[in-house]
Amino acid sequence: MLVLGIESSCDETGVALYHTERGLLAHQLHTQMAMHAEYGGVVPELASRDHIRRAIALTEACLAEAGVTLRDLDAIAYTRGPGLGGALLVGASIANALAFGLDLPVIAVHHLEGHLLSPLLATPRPAFPFVALLVSGGHTQLMAVRGIGDYEVLGETLDDAAGEAFDKTAKLLGIDYPGGPILSRLAEQGTPGRFTLPRPMLNSPDLDMSFSGLKTAVLTRVREEQSRLGGTLDDATRNDICHAFQQAIVEVLLKKSLKALKQTGMRRLVVAGGVGANRQLREALDQAAARRGLQVFYPPLALCTDNGAMIAQAGALRIAFASRDYGYSVAPRWDLGSLPAVAPR
Ligand code: KG4
Ligand code: ZN
Repeated sequence: MLVLGIESSCDETGVALYHTERGLLAHQLHTQMAMHAEYGGVVPELASRDHIRRAIALTEACLAEAGVTLRDLDAIAYTRGPGLGGALLVGASIANALAFGLDLPVIAVHHLEGHLLSPLLATPRPAFPFVALLVSGGHTQLMAVRGIGDYEVLGETLDDAAGEAFDKTAKLLGIDYPGGPILSRLAEQGTPGRFTLPRPMLNSPDLDMSFSGLKTAVLTRVREEQSRLGGTLDDATRNDICHAFQQAIVEVLLKKSLKALKQTGMRRLVVAGGVGANRQLREALDQAAARRGLQVFYPPLALCTDNGAMIAQAGALRIAFASRDYGYSVAPRWDLGSLPAVAPR
């Protein structure tokens, strides 16, 4: 079965072809980062318009990359939510129009399920069950995953998501959008130990997390340093603060992930979502896992942030729910726990 997947939930247009036996055949991505950078963040109306401009061309490029035509498709998957309403509508409309025209079934995919299952696009693939650490711009959750659609939330952030904390902290340090990856690069140039920041809820008895206090602590440090320096931060001070911030986030995510593994008795950890691209987080998890004989799985680096491949794959795994009802709707807010489970094959 060959599934075309279309992602348009935020600021990336992603299109991919996934084959149920042969795996990922092609994926094409256009990021709108440069367009939104001018405004310091995603402008929803501009995002929607750009998805319209890109989606068809990316679909054609994908078909060419895989050497197939629209006639070879068996189903079309698209991101139904969560995300920006207008942006989601672009992908949903194109997917449903194409499917209607080609008389193919459509599959509505949950964006977070796409992320959650994206490590299955890497080799080796993790087997079920596993603990998933989902760390994106909008979500930070630890989940027990026992199968497709069998997700139990073990803990989550009570305020900002980890990616959001990266982005907001970057902004208050004067780092350009997209803040997270740039902050992370600057952190690598920072001096360890010059600043210490709090690790909120690190030792709380549950698996919940909180990151908004960390951002406030950074703000306090920035103000202290600015008054000491009598003006703007010098690069070294900014990089040192970046280092301390990243270290604090990584330590919280590491400790809570290990605790989730211990609590569930599971031996496999799967990391997904944009923050999963963070090098320090990967190193910390890999080292801790190696010491304990645990396994950690990640999506291929290029597929950590939003992309069509994870949507095409999730669609293929949910092929049992494909339908020819083209009266689609999008779901800007959509609870992952409400998805029906897929019976194991
Ligand atoms: O999963 P994603 O592409 O979009 C959402 O569904 O939210 O995640 C984007 C988030 C942003 O907050 C971005 O700053 C963060 O992931 N991110 C990173 C890195 N790469 C992306 N955060 C820290 N380090 C990185 N290397
Ligand atoms: Zn995402």
